[in-house]
Amino acid sequence: MPASGGNVAALTFSINNQPQQVLKRAPKDGGVTNDVTPTTSLADYLRLHSQLPGTKTMCREGMCGACVVNVTSQNPATGQMESRAVNSCMVPINACQDWKIETVEGIGNRRDGYHPVQARLAHMNGTQCGYCSPGMVMSMYSVLKSGGEVSQERVEQAMDGNLCRCTGYRPILDAFKTFSEESDAKTKQLVKDIEETAGCRGRSGGSCQPTEACAGCPRSAALTSAANDWRLPTTLQQALGDLSSMAAGGKSVRLVAGNTAMGVLDKYNAPSDGYISLLKVPDLRVIKRPGASKETSWCPATASSVVFGAAVTLSELIEELQALSKTAGYRHCAVMAQHLLVVANTPVRNAATWAGNLMIKHRHREFPSDVFLLLTAAKARLKIAEGRQVEEMPVEKMYEISMNNKIIVSMSLPPMDEGKYVFKTYKITPRAISAHAYVNAAFVLPFDSATTKVTERPTLLFGGISDKFVHADATERYLTGRRLDEGTLQGALAILLDEVRPYPDPELADVAYRKTLASNLFYKMVLHTLGDRVPARLRSGGEDLTRPLARGTQEFDTDKKLWPVNQAVPKLEAQIQTSGEAEYVGDQPAAPGELHGYYVLATVGSAKVDAINTLAALAVRGVRAVLTASDVIGSNNYLTFRAYIPLLGMDEKSMMPQQVFAEDRVQFCGQPIGLVVADTMEIARKAAALVRVEYAEVAPPVLTIRQALEKQPEGRQQSKFVPANLTTGDVEAGLNSAPHRLKGEWEMASQYHFTMETQSVRVVPCEDGQLNVFCAAQANKEVVDVISGVVNIPANKINSEVRRLGGAYGGKITNPMPIAAAAALAAVRLNKPVRIVLDIETNIAMCSGRMPYLVSYEAGFDDTGKIHGLKMHVIANAGYTNTVLSFIEPSHVMHMVKSVYRADNWSVTPGTVTTNQPMSTACRAPGTTNAIAAIEMVMNHVAHQLNKDPWEVRQANFALPTAEVPTPMGTEQDNKVFSMMINEMFDKGDIKQRKAEINAFNKANRWRKRSLALLPMLYPVGTMAKMSALVSIYDNDGTVAVSHGGVEMGQGLNTKVAQVVARELGVPLDQVSVKPNNSLANPGSTVTGGSIGSEWCCMAARSACQQLLERLKPFRAAEGEPQRPWLQVVQMASGKGGVNLSAHCVQAPKPAGYSVLGLTAAEVELDVLTGENRFNRVDLYEDAGQSLSPWVDVGQIEGSFAMGMGLFLTERHRYDPATGQKLTNRAWNYYPPTHKDMPRDFRVKLLKNNKNDIGIFNSKATGEPAVCMSSVCLMALQQAVAAARRDSGHNDWVTINAPSTVEDTQMACQTSAEMFVLS
Ligand SMILES: Cc1cc2nc3c(=O)[nH]c(=O)nc-3n(C[C@H](O)[C@H](O)[C@H](O)COP(=O)(O)OP(=O)(O)OC[C@H]3O[C@@H](n4cnc5c(N)ncnc54)[C@H](O)[C@@H]3O)c2cc1C
Ligand code: FES
Ligand code: FES
Repeated sequence: MPASGGNVAALTFSINNQPQQVLKRAPKDGGVTNDVTPTTSLADYLRLHSQLPGTKTMCREGMCGACVVNVTSQNPATGQMESRAVNSCMVPINACQDWKIETVEGIGNRRDGYHPVQARLAHMNGTQCGYCSPGMVMSMYSVLKSGGEVSQERVEQAMDGNLCRCTGYRPILDAFKTFSEESDAKTKQLVKDIEETAGCRGRSGGSCQPTEACAGCPRSAALTSAANDWRLPTTLQQALGDLSSMAAGGKSVRLVAGNTAMGVLDKYNAPSDGYISLLKVPDLRVIKRPGASKETSWCPATASSVVFGAAVTLSELIEELQALSKTAGYRHCAVMAQHLLVVANTPVRNAATWAGNLMIKHRHREFPSDVFLLLTAAKARLKIAEGRQVEEMPVEKMYEISMNNKIIVSMSLPPMDEGKYVFKTYKITPRAISAHAYVNAAFVLPFDSATTKVTERPTLLFGGISDKFVHADATERYLTGRRLDEGTLQGALAILLDEVRPYPDPELADVAYRKTLASNLFYKMVLHTLGDRVPARLRSGGEDLTRPLARGTQEFDTDKKLWPVNQAVPKLEAQIQTSGEAEYVGDQPAAPGELHGYYVLATVGSAKVDAINTLAALAVRGVRAVLTASDVIGSNNYLTFRAYIPLLGMDEKSMMPQQVFAEDRVQFCGQPIGLVVADTMEIARKAAALVRVEYAEVAPPVLTIRQALEKQPEGRQQSKFVPANLTTGDVEAGLNSAPHRLKGEWEMASQYHFTMETQSVRVVPCEDGQLNVFCAAQANKEVVDVISGVVNIPANKINSEVRRLGGAYGGKITNPMPIAAAAALAAVRLNKPVRIVLDIETNIAMCSGRMPYLVSYEAGFDDTGKIHGLKMHVIANAGYTNTVLSFIEPSHVMHMVKSVYRADNWSVTPGTVTTNQPMSTACRAPGTTNAIAAIEMVMNHVAHQLNKDPWEVRQANFALPTAEVPTPMGTEQDNKVFSMMINEMFDKGDIKQRKAEINAFNKANRWRKRSLALLPMLYPVGTMAKMSALVSIYDNDGTVAVSHGGVEMGQGLNTKVAQVVARELGVPLDQVSVKPNNSLANPGSTVTGGSIGSEWCCMAARSACQQLLERLKPFRAAEGEPQRPWLQVVQMASGKGGVNLSAHCVQAPKPAGYSVLGLTAAEVELDVLTGENRFNRVDLYEDAGQSLSPWVDVGQIEGSFAMGMGLFLTERHRYDPATGQKLTNRAWNYYPPTHKDMPRDFRVKLLKNNKNDIGIFNSKATGEPAVCMSSVCLMALQQAVAAARRDSGHNDWVTINAPSTVEDTQMACQTSAEMFVLS
């Protein structure tokens, strides 16, 4: 076997204990082939080549965690086998040599029994859509597998790389915390029961034993092609030799350690000619304490420093720093370790090396590398080798030299005299974890505590400012030798603000904020250094905003008489979701000859399409076609909800066509122009980049409502696209009679749906010109209608099936339609199966999100806060054309603004503007969320003007609970319920006492503010759905199957339907199976959305059951006779009776609706100097009627609230103003909340079985209302900001738009350096 892996025959590793051997192949054309290539990711290898689709992919950049697997391999430095979670999307298959890989299917499944991690997650309600679940399971499994103590803290830490858009994380953390040694007896019993029920295999933990596949490491092997030469050296000498020989041959060569730079930078970069993996070089993996054996020649131990080989991972570095910090001279390592724990996330850190991080910074100086800051501050020294030469230098020196043909060998970390130096670092990020820094800083202050003097030149390092700025040189010089007093502070701040000049960063944060952060972090460090030398009121400004372990409670009632309805059961699909056995569209095995589509998107926002040149793309081997508008067979218009257009009084002709491919003009950047269809997704993606589109008449895009209003001032008026405005009483008279008046404007931006499963569709042509369609869509009927129109085939030839969605939230109502149509078109044109699974960038570019709004208002009110008159204009951004949804949604806003309020003399006028954005679509609680947030912001504004507690103003405006003026959908019962909720909240939520404590806290803390907001909600539930259900009973065993017209997307629809069917027919729940929605059984069902899909499907299913029961009646025992068993009745009916055991029913829309009431209290703590905030406690009460399925409903409420927290706090969109391109188009720069962003203490309560006479089994909808209540977070933040501003002398009202990110929140506090005092 050669020393380096240049031409080795095979790559070997194991997957789930099955040995794998990937043979070297002769490349077909020196380029991309259909085969496994050296750079194929492990995730693709698992999904496409090993038929193990349990491992999911979404972001492909280490941010979402869907792809996590467990890897056990030998550390070449220690010889130990080590297990860890890694992101398989960033692992090149060649890195897997000798690895033992475990996937979610391997650790437990239906055949062999489930693993306890899978069982507990499923049974403790930790899944909704289930798309994130395999990644969650594998992250937790890796904690157990890697051994060591399992504390609750460790569990929370281990989940920092897994995003979930559905659940709000609480049930996931609860399920996994049961593995911690801290579990109480009750929990232990619970998990014992779960594991017995699920038939679990034993708990797997401890360290890995070498298996046949991985024993005997290190070996050397690599998959090599002419295009990519991979080397796998086992000594540093070999690595250096390979590097110089390959470079001498003129090849582009890349060293590979963890390969995570791919996530940051190189996702779609062209592959290099050659790669040298450093993973098997023992010298690069060593960690040596001072005085350790000097046996390695390249990384000898030193007398006083600790030496880390260059391929030591960040996780290993953290572990060693934590251990070192207990030793004199290394106490500062605790600060370094703490900081590193918020660099990337656990699975990334398990692969990422510190040297790789430094090299990213070397290539991209603007990268705010935390590792660079920490190592520079700690005065680490690097050893860098080239050929036989080794040079030693400080970290910063590396940035002055070329690194061509060089390898970083090691870093030595010297001790630091903790009595002499203050070592403090900061990282301020858009969300709590798993995000790169807006600005980071590391300070080393030589400080004499007796004299308070800065004894030598300090080190003040900043990241995120510019590619050139690292040291605040002038400030460092200024501080040297000075006493740290107020004069020095102000002098230093003036110099610092002068030398910090941030470069514009259109993706992340504005210049002004980053400059502010630099000064504020410096001030924080000074406060930290001076400790109790500064007054108590200032001290908390020097502390970090920490977050203790999360906890939560869930309260609900259940009535056994109704079971299995109203019973808290695990979701029907939960177990197969946690084991990766649940199949999503993208998981379906490829049919023979299946092709892949990749979009060509417009790169400008408004232009004429002059020419489309597809020649270069068509010339790529493996490309089968490039489809454009001229290839459309039927109509190039996927107009959705056509049937509703006349019903709403709209005119189809006044609506711009919704083109599958842009024909004449592009209307937004990201609009589809063509589709490349090729043998693989990779080929299609590369070829799509070769399609040249020429544009003419390029105009600057109109992106925002304000820009549009300049061009379409009529948007401020009543829009012809929305119904008449809402007016009660005499608005002018109301306004004129009020002693006080105010005016304001408030904006609420869009939100991406950010489904973990991106838009996905497969179309398979079959006999007789029929198409089998599998589309991840919320509206199966629309899929059929749209394909029929675009491809021009009759609807009865389209067999469309939707089994489940990996998240939707409205994002799969209209957005999938053009994609389904394009795939069908390609399938028909090429007579081949075609699959389109969008990558995250295309998904975000093409698809629309939540509609943005601009709200302007004028309110007249009295001293109590009671509003006498209100005028409100609500303008929505409809995107490039008005649609049925942009018609309906602003009218929702109009009606729902009233919420629980009296609304005398109110006028609400909705309007829409069109812009160069994708046409609007619905997003969870569309319009309602905006309406409730808008009116609550008015209430906060009034309260601010009157210097009153906002709750008092709200109360002054209640229509409820007195019922003097019931809201249109409110009832007497609602009034009673609402007063009960308020009383209970004040009592159990300790509202008064907590408010008093908060006031005291705010007085005692200048740079920390807390606030508690309390928000009511009345959410009217409409009843416009039409849903069908087909229920069949099987006469051989009496089991039951249901196919309904709804779509299971995580909301527990199938579970609720099964519960209702089981109860109606009187069969056990596990005898009911729910089948996919299909166009044969349920052709006319409407979209699943608006929270009512579950109810409507349950009603249809119940009606079908009642029909069946009626048919079975004659075969039941006569009165007085012993009851016949179910199976006997069924068999008699089917056999002798010839009874039809299938029944189909349609639940048609009903005129009546009902209201969902809610009340939420949220307490926030704000770091005024940074804008970071944490929600310490949220109490949420919701009236779910008599819940059909309490765990499902609690999950819906928690998940809704979590999604709303993203909407109001973290999810900011940014655009390129010149082109309209969405810059926040990846998981790297768009920030849905992580589990650490959730309320620390989240208490959810379903009102005790409050029967809803209109709802099925007296239930109410739960999917959406809680999103509306999440605006409580914005209101709390607004109050905290106001408290901070008051301390700065700003008593005026400041508008807090949504989202209020960490950046927006801090900037609203309007701090400035002159306010920074020390006394
Ligand atoms: C999701 C995600 C979040 C992240 N968040 C943060 C963050 O918050 N803060 C932060 O600082 N970083 C962050 N990072 C960056 C991360 O720390 C780096 O990607 C990682 O440390 C790189 O190490 P690697 O071993 O994977 O390098 P690789 O990807 O293997 O290599 C990176 C580069 O370094 C070169 N290289 C590797 N080893 C050597 C060597 N010994 N000598 C010379 N050249 C070498 C390679 O040729 C390549 O050019 C994040 C990364 C991801 C994926
Ligand atoms: S797909 Fe790998 S982390 Fe998202
Ligand atoms: S259950 Fe986590 S993303 Fe849907």
